[in-house]
Amino acid sequence: MPIDDRDLTFTAADFRRVRDMVYRHAGIALSDAKSDMAYARLARRVRAMGEKRFSVYLDVLSADPAHPEWQAFVNALTTNLTAFFREPHHFEMLAQHYRMHADGQIYRVWSAAASTGEEAYSAAMTLAETRSAGWCRFELLATDIDTNVLKTAAAGVYHEERIALLNERQIKAHFLRGKGGNEGKVRIKPELSSAIRFGQLNLAAERWPDIGVFDAVFCRNVMIYFDGQTQRAILQRLAEHMQPHALLFLGHSENIQLITDAFTPCGRTAYRKAG
Ligand SMILES: C[S@@+](CC[C@H](N)C(=O)[O-])C[C@H]1O[C@@H](n2cnc3c(N)ncnc32)[C@H](O)[C@@H]1O
Repeated sequence: MPIDDRDLTFTAADFRRVRDMVYRHAGIALSDAKSDMAYARLARRVRAMGEKRFSVYLDVLSADPAHPEWQAFVNALTTNLTAFFREPHHFEMLAQHYRMHADGQIYRVWSAAASTGEEAYSAAMTLAETRSAGWCRFELLATDIDTNVLKTAAAGVYHEERIALLNERQIKAHFLRGKGGNEGKVRIKPELSSAIRFGQLNLAAERWPDIGVFDAVFCRNVMIYFDGQTQRAILQRLAEHMQPHALLFLGHSENIQLITDAFTPCGRTAYRKAG
């Protein structure tokens, strides 16, 4: 049934199609309650295609799995909320783990749902401040399914309000303040951003690119968008990309103990690879 106070036609059947498509493409499981959200997020895309009906927009996507609009469709439906040093206890654990890391071996961290990059930069700042240069090197991989947020992440430019909770020492050490037209913005210093590689990775894809093995993985506040089956499959694969005793950090409302025995809890929403 079309909904009257909307300028575009969006039926219950259209919502079911959106739900199927984003589930198959990104593993994102939308509940019935997300119908309004789907309309609000996708209406701009439908209009951009010059259409009045969601069904036509969805037909275009369905007819061509390689259509470039697929990426915009997924980008529109992801939720990208993040912050520097969100759940600071994870960064304290990361510092401890890194301190114990053997000299001479590169310490590798993966931010697996990196959004606009704050999580990866927070991890990089933590590592840079934990051991003096030359002692032990680190590198980070920051990935996300959403190509828009990855652009922001790779640029490393943020509004000053985003770093309001960081202390002056950290700001001085890791950020450059914008001048002139960039007043009110900060940029991550190149020595920090050069430690991070950014790229697209769909956690729900059948295959992941060759990303290697990590000492710590941040996979925070993304599992909540997946159903149990997808969560289990992703956790199993995460474990395969982790060193023995590597750390896994999840979001505050994500509990995986009933889903997998590949990890054992070792702190608040922190896990160690089992075995
Ligand atoms: C709420 S943000 C979490 C950001 C950060 N990890 C944090 O905790 O602050 C969730 C991120 O997961 C990403 N995401 C959703 N589905 C994904 C998938 N299938 N593969 C990779 N990333 C995905 C979204 O694009 C979004 O940027």
